[in-house]
Amino acid sequence: MTRRLPAAVEARLSGRYDVRLNADDKPLDSAQLRAAMTDYDALIATVSDCLDRRVLDVPDRRVQLIANVGVGVSNIDIDYARREGIALSNTPDVLTDATADIALLLILASTRRAFAAEQKLRRGDWRGFSLVDGLGISVRGKMLGVVGMGRIGRATARRAHFALGMQVTFYNRSPIADPLLEFGFAAHQVDSIDSLMATADVVSIHLPGGITEPLIGARQIAQMKSSAHLINTGRGDSIDQQALIAALLDGRIAGAGLDVFADEPDVPEVLMQLDNVTLLPHIGSATEEARTAMGMLAADNLDGFFGGIGLINAVL
Ligand code: DGY
Repeated sequence: MTRRLPAAVEARLSGRYDVRLNADDKPLDSAQLRAAMTDYDALIATVSDCLDRRVLDVPDRRVQLIANVGVGVSNIDIDYARREGIALSNTPDVLTDATADIALLLILASTRRAFAAEQKLRRGDWRGFSLVDGLGISVRGKMLGVVGMGRIGRATARRAHFALGMQVTFYNRSPIADPLLEFGFAAHQVDSIDSLMATADVVSIHLPGGITEPLIGARQIAQMKSSAHLINTGRGDSIDQQALIAALLDGRIAGAGLDVFADEPDVPEVLMQLDNVTLLPHIGSATEEARTAMGMLAADNLDGFFGGIGLINAVL
């Protein structure tokens, strides 16, 4: 196990397998990961493990399965793993609600400037109630644009629509024939990210990442309304981080809420200084319930693989 997991998961795995735990939870470096590839039959890994070709390509590899704890697998060179016959599983569904909750939190935090206000209070700079200071915007009736209408995108849209009264537009690679029937609320599908960026008041990104060219680049950010907010709970490499910083610095967009970054755990100092961005340290799935369920699902995949039934959540 490359990282710690909730105690119930570690106990289950330790009861059934000869497990090497990572008691101090320090991320393994690439030399340690390479060594693990030759020492163990399976790895229980996660987003902080960079399992690129340099790590996977070891002589005398022993690892047959990488059970990734997380739905995203952008940390793994999937093509190489597939070619080399390394089985791969992930943990979808069980973290959908937790992550959509964080997307909603960031939508509210950014549009209501909540964290900047909280910091002002903590600094002792609050001079008392004001009718005009620190005003945010109401999202009721405003347009949420969801990029990537998978499980988490849908769960975020549902919350924003039913709880906050937002309208929904979305971009998705495959067409959704009848969004009302499929989602239970009206949503308009657009055929390009550019047109979504131009019309949405809040853009929420739910892309898997792991691609060399960010889908949300300088051109897409330039389409956004100056009053709009950009939220990302997917993967940091889906957005051109420098272009986003430039837009926030110039006030070309109103704000951003980020739970993920291009080069985690590094967060550019300039972002830390801006009060029109809300920053969270990749906590989308960080609830007791979700993390336990994710670990248990990784264990189910291990059991399925070594028990001969096969993987429940094979990444194909
Ligand atoms: C995921 O599941 O992909 C989360 O980002 C945690 O890794």
